[in-house]
Amino acid sequence: MPGELKTELKSKSRAEGKLVVLKLGGSVVTRKEKRMTPNLEAIKMLAQEVAQADVEYLIIVHGGGSFGHPLAEQYRIKEGFKERSQIEGFSKTHQAMLELNKLVVDALIQHNIAAFSVIPSSCIVTKAGRIESLDNCQIDMLLNMGLVPVLFGDAVLDEDQGFAILSGDQLVAVLARSFKASRIILGVDVDGLYTADPKAHSIAQPITHITLADLKSRISAIEQTRVTDVTGGMLGKILELMPAIGAGIPTMIVNAGKRGNLYKALKEQEVPGTLITKE
Ligand SMILES: Nc1ncnc2c1ncn2[C@@H]1O[C@H](COP(=O)(O)OP(=O)(O)OP(=O)(O)O)[C@@H](O)[C@H]1O
Ligand SMILES: [Mg+2]
Repeated sequence: MPGELKTELKSKSRAEGKLVVLKLGGSVVTRKEKRMTPNLEAIKMLAQEVAQADVEYLIIVHGGGSFGHPLAEQYRIKEGFKERSQIEGFSKTHQAMLELNKLVVDALIQHNIAAFSVIPSSCIVTKAGRIESLDNCQIDMLLNMGLVPVLFGDAVLDEDQGFAILSGDQLVAVLARSFKASRIILGVDVDGLYTADPKAHSIAQPITHITLADLKSRISAIEQTRVTDVTGGMLGKILELMPAIGAGIPTMIVNAGKRGNLYKALKEQEVPGTLITKE
């Protein structure tokens, strides 16, 4: 009945407490060391695992990897508008992200997931690099209709500085808080959080569970990435996620590049990685 659908659309809270916000890191969906190179095998595998897990309410955010970060760095988009030559870079950075987004959404649709691309720069204007509101992105309506909104780190317009880089990590944290997610899953190319960057230090030890207070005391051990990441690599990620974890949303970091890990994390099964909780 059309009337019933209307009532459903009005109820904004259907996904509350049941929603999973998933970040597919640019380190997984692209080859981060090779400019504009997607990791098509990984994208396909992740789409398969998302389909198998069949989560009731899911929002996916993907990172920029070798599509977004190198262009954003070349044109210093994060610093905001300083000179005319950056304008072309703003356009190119956004366009590169649209290309990557198409690959991700196509793969999800091929696996029968009702994925729906939500373009951050079309519905979000930041203020000094921070999200002011998600009201124009229609995420609620998409979730209520049974769709899976797919967002991404993007080059966005900014009230104070002309433009900015909105990281996928910031989006994840704000989405999770705004829509009262039950959990956050961050897929990256390492087996979770370590005591130091595992790619740079062989003595780095994996951390399986950490509370927010402990995490704060260890923050100096978390590093930026060696590959280009204008949004601060693992350190930037953790700093963005802290308020969401503080709001009581448990966050699991897994190596989504290894087959089966994302499926297990989505199904709340035992999986190698790092669980970060408020207490
Ligand atoms: N203490 C740490 N524990 C784990 N990884 C770390 C640590 N310090 C630095 N890193 C690095 O962080 C990287 C993951 O962050 P990075 O921002 O590169 O990936 P991403 O978020 O998936 O990519 P994108 O920003 O494109 O979405 C790892 O590849 C790892 O080398
Ligand atoms: Mg990153």
